[in-house]
Amino acid sequence: MTDSDSDYWARYYEVTVDRPAWDTVKRAIELFAADRSARAGIVAAGLPDPLFAVDLGCGAGRDARELLRAGWRVLAVDREPGAIETLEKATPAELRPALQTRVADLAAVEIPACDLVNASLSLPFLAPDGFWHTWGRSLAAVRVGGRIAAKLFGDRDGSATDPTMTCPPPAAIRSSLAPFEIEHWVDREEDTQTALGEPHHFHMVELVARRLE
Ligand SMILES: C[S@@+](CC[C@H](N)C(=O)[O-])C[C@H]1O[C@@H](n2cnc3c(N)ncnc32)[C@H](O)[C@@H]1O
Repeated sequence: MTDSDSDYWARYYEVTVDRPAWDTVKRAIELFAADRSARAGIVAAGLPDPLFAVDLGCGAGRDARELLRAGWRVLAVDREPGAIETLEKATPAELRPALQTRVADLAAVEIPACDLVNASLSLPFLAPDGFWHTWGRSLAAVRVGGRIAAKLFGDRDGSATDPTMTCPPPAAIRSSLAPFEIEHWVDREEDTQTALGEPHHFHMVELVARRLE
């Protein structure tokens, strides 16, 4: 990590701090709410209350705050201290007790057992070894009946030739999800701009999946 990476991410947090949460995390929150109402009255099958999410590469916290507003407990992790500072500053005081934060590298951080692992646009910034190891640990951290929500880059993304990043073929992502039921899957390409206005060919793979076993 260099100072210029940190400067880049600092500008990213300024631009994105007030942006809405991604559809993936909103969809996951809705699916848990549907589970809860389907199980209402069946005491033994009750879901944990509050539910617990780990947000990997939280950035300025658009997804973490959506989870907190929905009543979740959240552990938000990012390697950049500026991300955690921005998230904490932007979190209303009444939601702060449910937020834990950690400045850590995703490739090494312990991912505790949880109801939801959320990773939006963060895991692609790991090189292949770190990406697949962290992806495997993320899937393993999800309790049975819990979910993973992710925004990944596919192999036709403009970053796919960067050896410091990982942009797998969508089929490889799907096959890693064998013990999961895929509930939301989007595989799309678009020529547009990054949050900082740079032109980029995006190949986005977005998913929400529920652990079956
Ligand atoms: C494109 S931003 C996305 C932030 C946020 N999830 C969002 O959707 O707005 C990527 C984030 O991943 C973090 N990140 C990248 N590589 C990381 C690593 N190895 N360990 C921890 N965080 C990392 C960056 O610091 C940055 O905050």
